[in-house]
Amino acid sequence: MPWTRRHLLTLEELSLAEIEQVHATAAAFKRTLARSVKKVPALRGKTIVNLFLEPSTRTRMAFTMAAKRLSADVISFDSASSSTTKGETLRDTAQNIQALQADMIVIRHSAAGSPLYLSRILNIPVINAGDGAHEHPTQGLLDTFTMKEHLGKLKGRKVVILGDILFSRVARSNIHALTKLGAAVTLVGPSTLVPHWFTDLGVKVSHDLRSALADAEVVMLLRIQHERQASGHFPSLGEYTSMFGLNKTRASWLNPKAIIMHPGPINRGVEIDSELADGERSVILEQVTNGIAVRMAALYLCSGGQPEHLYSGADPK
Ligand code: CP
Repeated sequence: MPWTRRHLLTLEELSLAEIEQVHATAAAFKRTLARSVKKVPALRGKTIVNLFLEPSTRTRMAFTMAAKRLSADVISFDSASSSTTKGETLRDTAQNIQALQADMIVIRHSAAGSPLYLSRILNIPVINAGDGAHEHPTQGLLDTFTMKEHLGKLKGRKVVILGDILFSRVARSNIHALTKLGAAVTLVGPSTLVPHWFTDLGVKVSHDLRSALADAEVVMLLRIQHERQASGHFPSLGEYTSMFGLNKTRASWLNPKAIIMHPGPINRGVEIDSELADGERSVILEQVTNGIAVRMAALYLCSGGQPEHLYSGADPK
């Protein structure tokens, strides 16, 4: 099946076949990243602009690394020294970047829907690198890619997502990807952060941490998104940690083979203790590494690359 999308805006709109296509393309690029020469010429001559208007370490670096591995030129927009500080709008900023002959924009913004908005006013591909509490599609793709590396097919696999679900774009993108891949997803946390209406998305909601963990093959921790909470959704961080933080005792309730994930950034000692974040069941840094191959796949496919020849096992030329 040919890839037809120019933009990557949400996982809600991607089909199962498209998610699997990104995963297969990422797997091919991951093989090239294991070579001594990691670069491929797939996007030579293209210029990608990382338009990040919210802080980021992993996503911005991984998109930069991915673009460089694909031989593209990459420019990171520095919002603090840009004319957005003089009141220039997102629309004008993006249209000027296009006028400067960028071939693709990767955007992170606090406003949900801003990548969709840009996709409607620009003529170049737009990739969503996180929009408010809405979606973070490449994070959902790299998380499910990492789970598949450990568990194989995700159909019927039990995945617990624990923490601040309400304000998490990572949770939403993972929910869309995991349910399409057939995983059984349970969301766990305080009822203020994990409201019952999430069941409309085809997942279970639980406030009983022990029974949810006992079943899990994957547990994904999420940090408390203070930057998106207008008012406190629980009395204090200490209280949250005492009820829902993953510590050694609670980890002992898990199946010994269960893997522990976190999209980062981690608040150590709040949602997860250091000995678990750094322990042998943690795949947190594998997620970060897989972020390069998955973003190479997203950039390649949305710029018109076709995946078929990558599937043969041949390395992308
Ligand atoms: N996971 C993630 O989006 O991390 P950054 O905010 O550091 O990009």
